[in-house]
Amino acid sequence: MANRATSAAARALQLAASRPNLFCSRQGLRKACMATVAPPVTQNSMSKRGPTAMVFMNMGGPSTTDEVGDFLSRLFSDGDLIPLGRLQNYLGPLISRRRTPKIQKQYADIGGGSPIRKWSEYQCEEMCKILDQISPETAPHKPYVAFRYANPLTEHMYEQMLKDGFGNGKGGRAVAFTQYPQYSCSTTGSSLNELWKWRNRLEGKRASGDMHPPGSITWSVIDRWPTHSGLVEAFAQNIEAQLKTYPEDRRKDVVLLFSAHSLPMSVVNRGDPYPAEVAATVYAVMSRLGFSNPYRLTWQSQVGPSAWLGAQTSDTVREYVKRGHTDLVLVPIAFTSDHIETLYEIDKEVMHEDAQGHPGVKRAESLNGSKVFIQALADIAKAHLESGQSCSKQMGLRCQGCTSERCLESKKFFAGEQAFTSGTVVR
Ligand code: FES
Repeated sequence: MANRATSAAARALQLAASRPNLFCSRQGLRKACMATVAPPVTQNSMSKRGPTAMVFMNMGGPSTTDEVGDFLSRLFSDGDLIPLGRLQNYLGPLISRRRTPKIQKQYADIGGGSPIRKWSEYQCEEMCKILDQISPETAPHKPYVAFRYANPLTEHMYEQMLKDGFGNGKGGRAVAFTQYPQYSCSTTGSSLNELWKWRNRLEGKRASGDMHPPGSITWSVIDRWPTHSGLVEAFAQNIEAQLKTYPEDRRKDVVLLFSAHSLPMSVVNRGDPYPAEVAATVYAVMSRLGFSNPYRLTWQSQVGPSAWLGAQTSDTVREYVKRGHTDLVLVPIAFTSDHIETLYEIDKEVMHEDAQGHPGVKRAESLNGSKVFIQALADIAKAHLESGQSCSKQMGLRCQGCTSERCLESKKFFAGEQAFTSGTVVR
């Protein structure tokens, strides 16, 4: 038992150190619901199939250093991300308290908080404006953001949707749009399990006694989009812009180092699809670039003694610089905006410490406000709405090593929404 506790704590500490951006204070519902202030919708007065709620799901990050403690606390309570078993409620708060001062300092160093909320709200609002134009039959599209560990939390988003006129007997359509292009059970899977939990509490069986009460919200999921051409184009354009800053005679030899958040090998060996999907994104981007440069996919943020997916970004940069490859462009390939892993880990730790501030070591800009990227989001959403699909085929297949009841039940729920999204059954 003691050994199990120690190893669970070690795993949790590794994750805490590796995912510091995943940490927020409970500022309460009021602040949480300020995420996406827009006029209320009325289900009965809109166009044929709208309005449609577009919900961006992501991990989130503390917007201020005061929010770090609550953010960490939620993170360590998540058994999908950090399975601590029966010790979860004891170890979670303990580890989060220990980690808080160090992580607060990192957020202070990048300007006092994570920009992920600002970017998520902006991207979602801009995408909805485009969707209103290109998909008038499902308009108006109303933007929402649901973070797993920071405000606006999933439950606050859901309560706001109900207040805005979705559900509560009025029905309505909502799309859960993961902002992790590549699926992992510890990220998108965890967000969907949380959404399913709150849907059940606020609208489903626990609220009404009926799993599908009349007039409840119909949900569908965009669960992965690792090789969408617009996503690939947005990455490629940011890489090309950075390559142009090198003298022409050196440009084609610049090494592109794609960097994604790593996973513990225990998760990889469980059958998690993330490594394959990240590799697919990298290959698609390199195809678009015509394989113009040498490249590698590396993995960042792993710490502690147990095995993580590698090679590590920091080791790779150190080794390449030592070998004389001092022209390197780091490309964050698994997040859709800046966050602590780009602004602190890559910009401060890797570029300034591992690469010793070598001027040839640079980073491609994150997707942030890229118009190409936001158009891609709108195109993905439009195609999804037209498809009538409740989720991808791939989402229904659980990991070989999955023993989670949450995974089983939430996947069943979202797959079961197919009858409603396809119009076979009307709520
Ligand atoms: Fe992958 Fe449950 S852990 S489906």
